[in-house]
Amino acid sequence: MAEAAATIRMRGAGYYSAHTTGAKLVIDRATPLALAAIRAMDLSGAAPFAIADFGAADGGTSLGLHRAVLTELRRRAPDRALTLTHTDLPHNDFATVFQLVQGRLDGREGLGVPGVFSFASGTSFYDPIFPPGTLALGFSATAMHWLSRLPAPIAEAVHAVFATGATQAAFREQAAADWQRILLLRAVELAPGGALVFANFSTDEAGRYLGATGGRNMHACFGAHWRALHAAGAITEAEVARATFPQYYRSVAEFRAPFEDAAGPVRQAGLRLEECFTLVTPCPYAARFAAGEWTAAEFARAYVPTLRSWSESTFLGALDPARPAADRQALIDRFYAAYEADVAADPAGHGMDYVHCLMRVSKAA
Ligand SMILES: C[S@@+](CC[C@H](N)C(=O)[O-])C[C@H]1O[C@@H](n2cnc3c(N)ncnc32)[C@H](O)[C@@H]1O
Repeated sequence: MAEAAATIRMRGAGYYSAHTTGAKLVIDRATPLALAAIRAMDLSGAAPFAIADFGAADGGTSLGLHRAVLTELRRRAPDRALTLTHTDLPHNDFATVFQLVQGRLDGREGLGVPGVFSFASGTSFYDPIFPPGTLALGFSATAMHWLSRLPAPIAEAVHAVFATGATQAAFREQAAADWQRILLLRAVELAPGGALVFANFSTDEAGRYLGATGGRNMHACFGAHWRALHAAGAITEAEVARATFPQYYRSVAEFRAPFEDAAGPVRQAGLRLEECFTLVTPCPYAARFAAGEWTAAEFARAYVPTLRSWSESTFLGALDPARPAADRQALIDRFYAAYEADVAADPAGHGMDYVHCLMRVSKAA
């Protein structure tokens, strides 16, 4: 199976963070963990204090967290150089990252902490990104459910949440291997006493996951609308089968496992799990509809773009590359238009509640 990276792409030019209010709410909830991480640190060192944001997309959703952390660091260690590196896949829209950090996009608020050295790295978090022992604080939100590779196509669905048998096992094993790989790479990069804070998509203790917390199952809706294109003769059977997200929503037990194996490589590398809990963040779009602020049509028009911001590349990538680009784009527009019409016609139960596992990890000093 192919590397996943080529088909993972958030929409650019600030579209991602402008249409993902929920992702920012999650990061706001993770901010106390990042502040707790630096509270536990000895800041007397002379080396630059290096912060990384792994899988940052356009960086817009995490500016508030970084502002809070950097302001606190400035207060406690006024003479220490501070660096912030946004990382993502090589084709990410890094120009927008710098525009957002510097407050140069559409009047949106920038980082607002003067004198911070701002960098970016277009390198996968499945590879080394920083020199050994140089990272003080690593942060990542809503990114590590993307696997390093698609372990198997799922013919009957678009997501591993509906996989069964050997296919389900292949996703589970890939996710375990990828999680360990991420942790071991970061363990090398962290300075002694450094920390990691994660807000990762998860399947929680009640079996809930993104877009599946009791109402309409978002992944089932994706699958139904994708198959409807086939039923209408617009896409082929092969294109139906190719639409599989290279993603996995790990359970809490799966997130904790590498930290509970005392003889395992993650513990041996010095990493300890300090905090771990799950969090459901209600869909802000569904909430506004429920509050009577929007008609069904307005809800649908606001809601479907947040799904599109992260899912489009998977569906686009499933279409036969021999089709002219304009035709592929037209099919994708038709797909999301049908989803939007569905929500507008029958909005009850639609919504993308976020389900996360928040974790704070320390490295031995
Ligand atoms: C849903 S966005 C999350 C962005 C931001 N962290 C947030 O919480 O709003 C997921 C991001 O993870 C990135 N991503 C996926 N796989 C990655 C990898 N292997 N290495 C680095 N970034 C990756 C995607 O490119 C995308 O920008």
